Amino acid sequence: MSDSKTPSTEIGPVDGSELATTDRFADPGVPEHKPRLTDTDPKAAARSERIVTILFVLSVLGTIGSLVAYFAVRPDGTVPGVRASTLWLGVTLAISLLGIGFAAIHWAKSLMSNREYVDERHPIPSSPEVREVAVVALQQGVEDSGIARRGVLKGAMLGSLALFPLAVAVPLISSVGDDWNVSKFRHTLWRKGMRLATDPDGRPLKAADLTVGSVAHMMPDVSTEVRESGEWISEKAKAVILLVKLDPEDIRSEQRPGSSYDGIVAYSKICTHVGCPVALYDQQTHHLLCPCHQSTFDVADGAKVVFGPAKRPLPQLPISVDDEGYLIAEDDFAEPIGPSYWERLR
Ligand code: FES
Repeated sequence: MSDSKTPSTEIGPVDGSELATTDRFADPGVPEHKPRLTDTDPKAAARSERIVTILFVLSVLGTIGSLVAYFAVRPDGTVPGVRASTLWLGVTLAISLLGIGFAAIHWAKSLMSNREYVDERHPIPSSPEVREVAVVALQQGVEDSGIARRGVLKGAMLGSLALFPLAVAVPLISSVGDDWNVSKFRHTLWRKGMRLATDPDGRPLKAADLTVGSVAHMMPDVSTEVRESGEWISEKAKAVILLVKLDPEDIRSEQRPGSSYDGIVAYSKICTHVGCPVALYDQQTHHLLCPCHQSTFDVADGAKVVFGPAKRPLPQLPISVDDEGYLIAEDDFAEPIGPSYWERLR
């Protein structure tokens, strides 16, 4: 290997062995150290310290704001109520976390030591001497951070870090013993005789409108009164289904009587993993993919899981047609829709 640090001016085709044995590029070394404004100007350092303190104080205000929002803006079951609660919690928690994050970044970039070190690679594990040096370096880091000298900033940082867990702990603790009403997942709007309507335009669909390979996103055909009620959005979210028309010969699962009609099957769109909407249907394989974590369900085989983290098949909605040929539900889902939860072992 050449000892020269001068880069070669001849650039031509080289093979791997040549690259390994030729020092074609000089080590550029460490760029010249440039002190920051805060290293040379005490006023700039004081200004930076004020900014960091203000950011930590903002975080404290954000945490307090999130606690106030949690108790003052409760979701009342209506869509505007849920939106207002989510908005206020989101904004205040963002201020709380971003305050800590930006303060830490600004502190590190402007106030902590910016001395540059060259740290040679060494075998693992480190020798006891090196570990001792590391301990000294850590202590030096604490010294460099200036936390011991900056009392107000230290107080602001400790205050923001100490208060922030309350934003998570208080809602959790205050909800212990609440009625989480998980039984609401056991029932949806579907009832015997209710027509299936296209989502979102609400048009009832006839079985004759579907050809083999057709896929349709459907919801219950409900009255205008139900649609305008505050419960409609959450009830619709539970009841949405995916309708697929298969060649009846392709259906492999043992279908319960009345669960499919002329090759048309209907499954809950709520993934049984953690509840994303499944929607990607492959007509060749009859596989239905959940885009969140790639759980794959076989529509021709009772929507059984063929791949991915989901543990249960998609619940099937039993369907048939009414006197006019419109698709109708024969009943509600036989089992709870969506992910497993603590009152349900599978
Ligand atoms: S939510 Fe569907 S795979 Fe995770």
